[in-house]
Amino acid sequence: MKPLPNLLGFLLLLMLCESARRSRAARAQQVADFSVAGYLPEYRFAADLGFAAGQLTDLILFSAKPTKSGLLTSFLTPENFAAAKRHSGETRLLLSVGGAGRSENFYAVSTDAGARQKLVASLLRLVDLHSLSGADFDWEAPSTPAEAGAYVRLLNEVHAAFGGRGLLLSVALHAGQALPEGGFEAVDRVNLMAYDMVAGGGSHAELGKVKEAVSRLLAAGCPREKIVVGIPLYGRRERSPGEVRTYAEIVDAMTHTPAEPGDPRARPLAERVAPALASTSSHDGYLFDGRSAAQLKTAWAKREGLGGVFFWEVGQDKLEPGVSVLEAAALVGNGTVEVDNVEGAGQARPTVAQEGIRERRRREGKRGGYQAPVVPDEEKAREAKESKKAKRRKRRGYDQGEL
Ligand SMILES: *[C@@H]1O[C@H](CO)[C@@H](O)[C@H](O)[C@H]1NC(C)=O
Repeated sequence: MKPLPNLLGFLLLLMLCESARRSRAARAQQVADFSVAGYLPEYRFAADLGFAAGQLTDLILFSAKPTKSGLLTSFLTPENFAAAKRHSGETRLLLSVGGAGRSENFYAVSTDAGARQKLVASLLRLVDLHSLSGADFDWEAPSTPAEAGAYVRLLNEVHAAFGGRGLLLSVALHAGQALPEGGFEAVDRVNLMAYDMVAGGGSHAELGKVKEAVSRLLAAGCPREKIVVGIPLYGRRERSPGEVRTYAEIVDAMTHTPAEPGDPRARPLAERVAPALASTSSHDGYLFDGRSAAQLKTAWAKREGLGGVFFWEVGQDKLEPGVSVLEAAALVGNGTVEVDNVEGAGQARPTVAQEGIRERRRREGKRGGYQAPVVPDEEKAREAKESKKAKRRKRRGYDQGEL
């Protein structure tokens, strides 16, 4: 036995241990952070990715579909991956596997050991090829105990393959869905799709319904720090919830005003709509999560010690400073803005750091960005002015609720 190779081998072993320890530590850190994540489907790459990624800790690229044999058919092109990478900055990129209408082969894959192995290998190849930080599994949805059990087996194998490399694994679940024995241990995060809850009337993503969905997930054994609360970037019509409008469409509808003398459209969008949008959650019969609703949910999730919030989906936002819902949530997520009275009205107020930024903006004469909460007297004056304007508009036959 020669001493030198032995020493080299020992050093190599030390290095391997150290790198495994570091990747575990990096992962623990990633998982410990409060995340503000967003899904980006392949048909939304025309969106302002730089702005969107700038608000998010995680961008989940949607999606790749498993074939029966365990290969992955990516709906995202290599150009999509490259564009996401170019704009991602500090933002982690994850690949979503499955999704509604892309899940029919999950059962075949997860009940076949060979196909499971192949799926894990296909996934690792994509993750390496595009330098991704992990994956999100979205089988919509296992409907029998056999399917749910098979899903957990699959998730465990992905988890085992991801663990040593510091890759993140999340799973998307509907409200009311759970994972059987061993499922929650296999994943770092559970993206709770806390929307489309149309039963009982009101908003499909009402905070009360969200809290109930989180309680059920906790009762099913999911650790609270793994729960990431889903917030929709689309509204549903209260009287016929099948009708959907994206947040961007709603903002556009609110700001579509026929030209008037002294046309307010000359002003930046944020300035025109931010005061009204700050607390608006309904327009033209559509109930949606605007900036304040998203901030309230984010603050609530933080206070409850949950893992974060996520949005479906990024391209439905109005990706502009002062108007974007992602931005509003990010400000709470990273502690720039705090929300008072999370249980009650939830009035957002800027923290000291944000005051500093606002002061600088004032000095520099810049506008946009976060809109300061209006002080009560100004608020009253504004409301009085708004209602006068609304009356005038009504006389002229414009829609109510337009700005
Ligand atoms: C917090 O988030 C906002 C909105 O994304 C961003 O503009 C700001 O730079 C962030 N602040 C910190 C300290 O990360």
